Amino acid sequence: MNDTVEIKKGLAGVTVDRTAVSSVNAATNSLLYRGYPVQELAATSSFEEVVHLLWHGELPDAEELARFTAAERRRRALDPDLVRVIDGLSSGAHPMDVVRTAVSILGTDDPDAWDHAPDAVLDKALTLYAQLPTVVAHVQRRRRGLEPVAPRDDLGYAANFLWMSFGEEPDEVACRAFDVSMTLYAEHSFNASTFAARVVASTLSDYYSAIVAAIGALKGPLHGGANEAVMHTFAEIGSADRASAWLDEALAEKRKVMGFGHRVYKRGDSRVPTMKTALDTLVEHYDRPDLADLYDALEAEFVGRKGIYPNLDYPSGPAYHLIGFDTELFTPIFVASRIAGWTAHVQEQLASNALIRPLSAYDGVPERHVAGYVPDDAALAAATREVERAG
Ligand code: COA
Repeated sequence: MNDTVEIKKGLAGVTVDRTAVSSVNAATNSLLYRGYPVQELAATSSFEEVVHLLWHGELPDAEELARFTAAERRRRALDPDLVRVIDGLSSGAHPMDVVRTAVSILGTDDPDAWDHAPDAVLDKALTLYAQLPTVVAHVQRRRRGLEPVAPRDDLGYAANFLWMSFGEEPDEVACRAFDVSMTLYAEHSFNASTFAARVVASTLSDYYSAIVAAIGALKGPLHGGANEAVMHTFAEIGSADRASAWLDEALAEKRKVMGFGHRVYKRGDSRVPTMKTALDTLVEHYDRPDLADLYDALEAEFVGRKGIYPNLDYPSGPAYHLIGFDTELFTPIFVASRIAGWTAHVQEQLASNALIRPLSAYDGVPERHVAGYVPDDAALAAATREVERAG
C-alpha cells in the first residue's frame, strides 16, 4: 500500500466535477437551483415550475408551463401490467422497494431504454415524474386495503398526488405545504443518490438503471431514509417531556439521531426554515401542538448538547405525518421529488461524459502465490514484452 496517498473517506471535501444544476454553499447557508435561491422558488413557484427550471434551465413562461403540465397530466395513469406487478409483490414489502421495482419495470417496457439523446432522456423522465406519484399513492392505499384512486387531469401535481393518496380533495394548507416540500427536496447537488445516478449514467447504462441506483442510495437512513426515521424516533419518544431522557439513552448508546447533521451544512440546513414554516401551518391546521412541542423539545436538547442542527428531513417527516401519509411512504415521496434533480444530473453527465472510476489504495495481504501453481514462463515472457511494447 502507498502510505503517502491521502484518503478522503466518503469523498468528504472532494470536488469530483462541475455542475450547473445547483449550488450548495455552506458558508452562506444557501442553496441555489440554476441560480435561484430555493426559498424564493418555494415561495413563488409551483413544483411543476421548479422541475421545468431544473430540466430546461429556466422557469417556464405561461405557455411553456401549460405545455409542460399538460404533458405530465396526460401520463399520470399506470399501465395495468405495472399495477399487476405491484399488486403481486408481498404486502409487507417496503414502499421504497416497491417504487424501485416499479422504475425497473417501466425500464423493461421502454423499447428505447438505451436512447441517450437529450430529448429521449427527458421523455423517459417525464413518464417517471408523472407516474411516481401514482405509484406512491397506489402503495399508500394498498397498505390500507383501499382501492386505488385514478389520477385527475384537472388537478395540479401536488393536489393530484394527495387526491390519489387519500381519495379526497386536498385542502389548500396541506396542498401548499406538500408542494413546498417537493420543491425543497427536488435537488441538492452531488449528494449520495445523485452521485450514484451519475456513476451509473457515466457507464452509458440506461436512464432507468441510473434512477434505480439512485433510489437504492436514497433509501439509506443516512440519506433520504432519515425522514422516515425521524417519525420512528418521534413515536419512540412519545411526548415532549420524554425527549431529554430519550436523548440521554440514545447518546449513551452512541445512536445517530435521525434528521440532524449534514455532510455539507455544519451550521444548519438552508432548507429547514422554509419547511419548518410549512410544518407550523400544518400543526395549526390539524391542531397538533403536541407534535410541535416534541419537535421543539428534541431539537433544543440535541442542538444544545451536540451543536448539530436539523436537516430537511426533520421538519418533512412530521409534515408528511400530519398530511396523513404512513411513515414508510415518506422516502418514496422524496423519490417522486428528487427525480427532478437526478434527471438534470444524468443529462449533465451524458452531455460531457467521463466514466467515473476512482482509484483505491490497496492495504490487503501482500502478493502471494497459489500452492502448486507452476508459472508458464513463455506466457510470462510474452506478457512482459507486451507491457514493454505498450511503454
Ligand atoms: N446524531 C448523533 N451524532 C451525530 C449526528 C447525529 N445525527 N450527526 C453527526 N453526529 C456526530 C457523529 O457521531 C460524529 O461524532 P464523532 O466525531 O464523535 O464520531 C460527528 O458528529 C461527525 O459525524 P459524521 O457522521 O462523521 O459526519 P458526516 O458529515 O459524515 O455526517 C450525516 C453527515 C448526515 C451522515 C450525519 O450527520 C448523520 O448520520 N445524520 C443522521 C442521518 C440524517 O439525518 N441523514 C439525512 C442527511 S440530509
